[in-house]
Amino acid sequence: MAKSPGPPVGGTAVSRQAPGSARGRGLFITLEGPDGSGKTSQAARLAATLGAGGVDVVLAREPGGTELGERLRELLLHRDDLVIDPLTDAFLFNAARTQLVAEVIRPALAAGRTVVCARFADSTLAYQGYGAGLDLAILRTLEAIATGALRPDLTILLDLPVEAGLARKRRGRAALTRFESRVDVAFHRRVRDGFLRLARAEPERWRVIDAARPRSTVATEVTVAARSLLEARRGERERV
Ligand code: TMP
Repeated sequence: MAKSPGPPVGGTAVSRQAPGSARGRGLFITLEGPDGSGKTSQAARLAATLGAGGVDVVLAREPGGTELGERLRELLLHRDDLVIDPLTDAFLFNAARTQLVAEVIRPALAAGRTVVCARFADSTLAYQGYGAGLDLAILRTLEAIATGALRPDLTILLDLPVEAGLARKRRGRAALTRFESRVDVAFHRRVRDGFLRLARAEPERWRVIDAARPRSTVATEVTVAARSLLEARRGERERV
């Protein structure tokens, strides 16, 4: 099993296969959604399910997944004493993203591995763009620079009403982030609406899943969406 390049969940190898079996570029799958939609646990479940089925998977999260990214995560999410302008947020989330793409995602995809990532660039569009009101065109330019124009093959939106998501987070054990402890329901509604708009604008990349249902039902649908993409890719390879 490959060594994780960063602490907790970042770049964690979850498959039992030896890494590096290069059979073309691997698949890049992201999970997005409002706070409390269950992305982190669904991403871990998906990676474990695919790994158990023999898919060579790397699990990552944003912000984080590298040594630098995890330090930025601490600054960005858990320091109530800091005042952070939305544009500064956009730069810092993208800085963490640049590092994750360079250190974890691109090498994994180049080795033919499947990357499952909890949040990616669409979160900046939803939170700093739709939520905090920054210009979407500027954010897309920053994104293209940060990612080198790398885009997910599949993005799963775990959608649920804002009140339900925030209530789940308050009941849970994880520390609330700066965005969750902000009791600005209107902000979170704009974020959710932003995700839904992004999904409608690019239906070939996004799958919207109702995350208000039991976790196991949601997990089954997430797995079906990922497997159908993997099978389609396998079919394309076999035809070549
Ligand atoms: P999470 O890992 O628990 O989802 O927390 C990440 C928080 O950071 C969440 O409230 C969304 C926010 N966020 C942004 O505002 N912009 C971003 O680009 C990313 C990746 C996350």
